[in-house]
Amino acid sequence: MSRLDVRKAVIPAAGLGTRFLPATKASPKEMLPLVDKPLIQYAVEEAVASGIEDIIIVTGRGKRAIEDHFDRSVELEENLKGNGKAQLLSQMRHISTLANFCYVRQTEALGLGHAVLCAQRLIGDEPFAVILGDEIIDAPVPGLAQLIHAFKKRQGAILGVQEVPHHEVNRYGIVSPKTISPGVHRVEGLIEKPTPAEAPSNLAVIGRYVLPPEIFSILRKTRPGKNGEIQLTDALRELAKKSPMYALEIQGQRYDAGDKLGFLIATVEFALKNPSLGPEFGEYLQDRMRPTEGRRMTRSKKAQSRHTRKT
Ligand code: UTP
Repeated sequence: MSRLDVRKAVIPAAGLGTRFLPATKASPKEMLPLVDKPLIQYAVEEAVASGIEDIIIVTGRGKRAIEDHFDRSVELEENLKGNGKAQLLSQMRHISTLANFCYVRQTEALGLGHAVLCAQRLIGDEPFAVILGDEIIDAPVPGLAQLIHAFKKRQGAILGVQEVPHHEVNRYGIVSPKTISPGVHRVEGLIEKPTPAEAPSNLAVIGRYVLPPEIFSILRKTRPGKNGEIQLTDALRELAKKSPMYALEIQGQRYDAGDKLGFLIATVEFALKNPSLGPEFGEYLQDRMRPTEGRRMTRSKKAQSRHTRKT
């Protein structure tokens, strides 16, 4: 194994999901379905499609459903087999074979930086990826694969970024960039959730990272920052002072599915792309947008009347 092989990914999933309460009071945010797959499965599939073999999921209280999802479900499998649902059966079995899954518990939601630190013993002394499961990236080349490719070339920590509207910079970690080629920047500094006036750019870190193991010793010393949490951004700022760090503009459509509006937009887009659902759902949406009196009884309208009940 060379120092440039990225075999392991950490998916922090121990947050409280307060933006989605009360849905996330007893169920993990990461298990919210985007059409028919939980958010975290998109993250795992992106990692696997990017060449990752070992997936370390950082969990916490109330997150058991995540482990169950990536485990086999013998009873369900027997049922599907007995009912001749072979395709569904193979899909269900496939989920548990996607990667080698390991779980580590973050006993208190002390922040993203702390969640990453919890994975230290399972990562050891090699570069690794971090994927935030509530940021969905829909791209022909998986977002993480783009980063790993750039990491092999640049040999420094590399952060996935995209431009965001200036008035939204206060929702992200923002980089201070020195552009070295189109879409590639040297990171000269980082700031977590700045006001638009404080922000050094509108390039936001979008939940994809490839990091060297040196980040762990920095995280150990990182004190709580914004919102009283141990912020990964603060540790990255320290790392950038010691060794080269880069930001790569990831090509693809990003959805912030950790936020209600972003989640709804992602749901609509993925539903429209779904071959068995898209055409009828598209018709329904078009019809829904017409003024009430102009609405026709399209197929989707009929479908809607099948799926809704008048009281
Ligand atoms: P977020 O801030 O987006 O998620 O953290 P959250 O804290 O769960 O949600 P809100 O903001 O309260 O609605 C980004 C990622 O980091 C994980 C979250 O699970 C999410 O995937 N995280 C965050 C942890 O694992 N531990 C933490 O202490 C904080």
